[in-house]
Amino acid sequence: MNEGSRTFHIVTYGCQMNKLDGQLVADRLRASGMTAADDPADADLVLYVTCSVRRHAEERVYSNVGKLKHRKRRRPELLIGILGCMAEKDREDIFRRLPHVDFICGPDHLHRIDDLVRRAAARAASGATADSHIAALSAPRGDRAPGTVDDHLEPFEAGRLTPVGEHPFHAYVRAMRGCDNFCAYCVVPYVRGPERSRPPHAVLHEIQRLVGQGVRHVTLLGQSVGSYERAENGRTWRLADLVRAAGATEGLVRLDFVTSHPKNLDDDILDCLASGPPVAPYLHLPAQSGSDAVLRAMNRGYTSADYRDKVARARRKVPGVAVASDFIVGFPGETEADFQATVSLVRDMGYSQVFAFKYSPRPGTDAARRQDDVPTQVKEDRLRRLLEAHQETALQAHAALVGHTLRCLITGPSRKPHLDPTANGPADTIQLASRSPGNRIVLFRGSRDLVGREVPVQIVRASAITLFGTLADR
Ligand code: SAH
Ligand code: SF4
Ligand code: F3S
Repeated sequence: MNEGSRTFHIVTYGCQMNKLDGQLVADRLRASGMTAADDPADADLVLYVTCSVRRHAEERVYSNVGKLKHRKRRRPELLIGILGCMAEKDREDIFRRLPHVDFICGPDHLHRIDDLVRRAAARAASGATADSHIAALSAPRGDRAPGTVDDHLEPFEAGRLTPVGEHPFHAYVRAMRGCDNFCAYCVVPYVRGPERSRPPHAVLHEIQRLVGQGVRHVTLLGQSVGSYERAENGRTWRLADLVRAAGATEGLVRLDFVTSHPKNLDDDILDCLASGPPVAPYLHLPAQSGSDAVLRAMNRGYTSADYRDKVARARRKVPGVAVASDFIVGFPGETEADFQATVSLVRDMGYSQVFAFKYSPRPGTDAARRQDDVPTQVKEDRLRRLLEAHQETALQAHAALVGHTLRCLITGPSRKPHLDPTANGPADTIQLASRSPGNRIVLFRGSRDLVGREVPVQIVRASAITLFGTLADR
């Protein structure tokens, strides 16, 4: 098979980990001589990087991949692969529901992508039989040694040629794999495996290389990134050590990390956050609920008061820190009073962003053994009320920023210039989109050649989602 003449298309669902995984796979395929096709209909290989965190995410994949059945029948040489979390969770069931899928590959096996594609092509050429499916998966968690270091993934991880992030100057860099927290509702520890921290110097070299390629903003990734811990040359590195060392990278303008579990947000990390640029005053600190009973049932390991204390401490130590959070509504047994406690938490915390989800039972998790007893309509109603509560406080928090000057990293031309009809300016300027240090969206007028730079912007107007400003004197 001549891979040089072949094209691929990748569809990615789920979190930042998956975005990074999808890009690493794309890089590897390009290095093998394949080219990316913008339209999946033109591709010889279609890959789905999948998410299992809620049922809805999985259903989309089953439905979208299901639609490829006819195309595969017409063109048996078309290869279809399911990568990521669903491959681990649903395993061979995927082949039962989607018999036209050629191979599946879990998140810890993506470095084998070339081999999988080669084997799948050979199988397709020989007239595939249903019982010879190809799978690269991990042993179920209970059967595995805990915390195994997997340095064999390093060449795949660190070898990428192109950055991937939210905009051209941003890159995600993995600090760790897996999760050991076993929150009662969550599938991630099962599908992403045990916590494993990458070698600190591998992470630091990767950041240096990306910044050398023009990246200005790096986000370190871990499902519970505060658990980062790795010994190297007799020294144990924790997250704060890694952030401090990464922050010294010449040319790096902004550095942040997600996601922080409240249990290990310690003073060392808060001092790091307070140390100033390039470390951004930004924390993604999911609370999940404001009710102690629900938090206990979720196995989160803190009370609502503990959480409030952590945020209060962060606000004292890190001036202007932006705190974002995730919430689940309708967890089994959640009463209206429990939900009200969550609403109060949202009102009190002044979050910069809130990501809220309806509880979705995940097979194999502790919570799935309980009855999913909050009716869908009640979940939907609570979701709406929670987001409304957030909108009200977000508008207040943004209004308080009017008059302040924030250092904003310009990500590109604004995609929604109509949002700010008052922002007329000289003809040689356009409306630019940028991110504040707390990751808020800030729009202002400026010249196109500022894109990729960090500039001071005075905030003049605010909505719950967006801030509007003018370029301030330097
Ligand atoms: N490791 C990160 C992200 C986990 S998944 C963290 O700890 O925050 C992202 C979010 O999805 C979670 O924070 C949670 O709010 C939500 N989530 C996870 N499992 C869920 C489930 N079974 N139903 C609904 N939402 C869920
Ligand atoms: Fe899931 Fe909890 Fe781990 Fe986050 S910390 S990935 S919610 S188990
Ligand atoms: Fe989804 Fe896997 Fe991320 S389950 S949220 S893609 S870790």
